Amino acid sequence: MVTTSSSKLKAQSSKLQAADAAWMARALRLASLSLGMTWPNPGVGCVLVRDGQVIGEGRHRRCGGLHAETDALSRCPDARGATAYVTLAPCTRHGRQPPCVTALIGAGVARVVAAISDPHQDEAGACLTTAGIAYEVGCLGAQARHLHGGFLCRVTRGRPRITGKWATSADGFIAAAPGHRTPISCPDAYALMRRRRRAFDAIVVGAGTAAADNPALTTPRPRWHGDETGPLRVVLARRGVVAAPSLCDGAAPTLVVHGPGAAPPAGVRGLEVGDPHDPVLVAAALGALGLNDLLIEGGAAVHAAWMPLYDRLEIYRGTVVLGGGVPAPPEPAAGWIREGGPELVGSTAIARWTRVA
Ligand SMILES: NC(=O)c1ccc[n+]([C@@H]2O[C@H](COP(=O)([O-])OP(=O)(O)OC[C@H]3O[C@@H](n4cnc5c(N)ncnc54)[C@H](OP(=O)(O)O)[C@@H]3O)[C@@H](O)[C@H]2O)c1
Repeated sequence: MVTTSSSKLKAQSSKLQAADAAWMARALRLASLSLGMTWPNPGVGCVLVRDGQVIGEGRHRRCGGLHAETDALSRCPDARGATAYVTLAPCTRHGRQPPCVTALIGAGVARVVAAISDPHQDEAGACLTTAGIAYEVGCLGAQARHLHGGFLCRVTRGRPRITGKWATSADGFIAAAPGHRTPISCPDAYALMRRRRRAFDAIVVGAGTAAADNPALTTPRPRWHGDETGPLRVVLARRGVVAAPSLCDGAAPTLVVHGPGAAPPAGVRGLEVGDPHDPVLVAAALGALGLNDLLIEGGAAVHAAWMPLYDRLEIYRGTVVLGGGVPAPPEPAAGWIREGGPELVGSTAIARWTRVA
């Protein structure tokens, strides 16, 4: 953010920054409504403010649709002199939509505040300042990096952000026996987990979990992605076999990642990769599809193979004692930080971890 030399200007600047943060928080809240709906694009939010009043706001709602800035401008007949708060720097290139910097310049805004720059195209500052528009970047940057972390991961690392999730019994087992569906989380935590799926572009399981659990992998209030409800359900199965009627019911699209020579069952899409058991290969293939945020729900074999790729981890610890069965993967240690203490939902303790190295 801009710094000034005199104490008066510094005081003015910090006042401005506090107000900027409040407006940016509003833009981030708008952006969060688009999670899971816009891949391969980021679900950006935008708020237009003049004289301390919101005069327009918008968000990117679907790939191919209006961007956040043009959505906000379309709801504001006169944005002259306004400040535009955007959760990601405005685009400068012509894609499915014309560049947002052109729209902002044309609308006569006086100032643009971005939470983070776009690693994809970094010319927003140059374009706006050349047009005489003040431009600042970095307002609530950490929150925006978290919100848009899937998009940032995909464009910088060529693969989606990957979150692993499992439920473990109090004594450290994810199932009573291999191939057994074993309820572990309490109903409240189970309901939360189903709602949590809305924040992801795709939910991934292995062929073993599909066969054992026949999971629906749906969420109570589905996201729209284009004309389909999401998130996408992904099954990793070398032979393309999805032994789970619930995943072939059309309630949400299902994609099976299979090996050469295999074919998906009726009603299920297929994605062939050289080796579906190679997480690096699969992650790159899912990134190439445009998926920004994956939730890997297991089971044991998939977690063991994918653990080195996890950026985040969510562990639901129930109170049930199984006394044996399929051991839970080891909890993360060095290179991870725990996000606060465990959240108690009903009788289930949910621990969240982020990889730092
Ligand atoms: N508590 C929990 O959070 C939780 C969550 C999910 C599942 N579970 C339980 O876990 C058990 C299933 O475990 P599981 O290990 O059989 O299931 P899994 O990991 O879902 O599936 C294993 C199968 O997935 C395929 N696969 C895909 N990628 C793989 C890779 N990188 N490495 C190895 N295999 C890969 C293989 O089938 P192909 O050879 O056909 O490709 C393999 O046989 C069930 O009892 C289920 O209820 C518990």
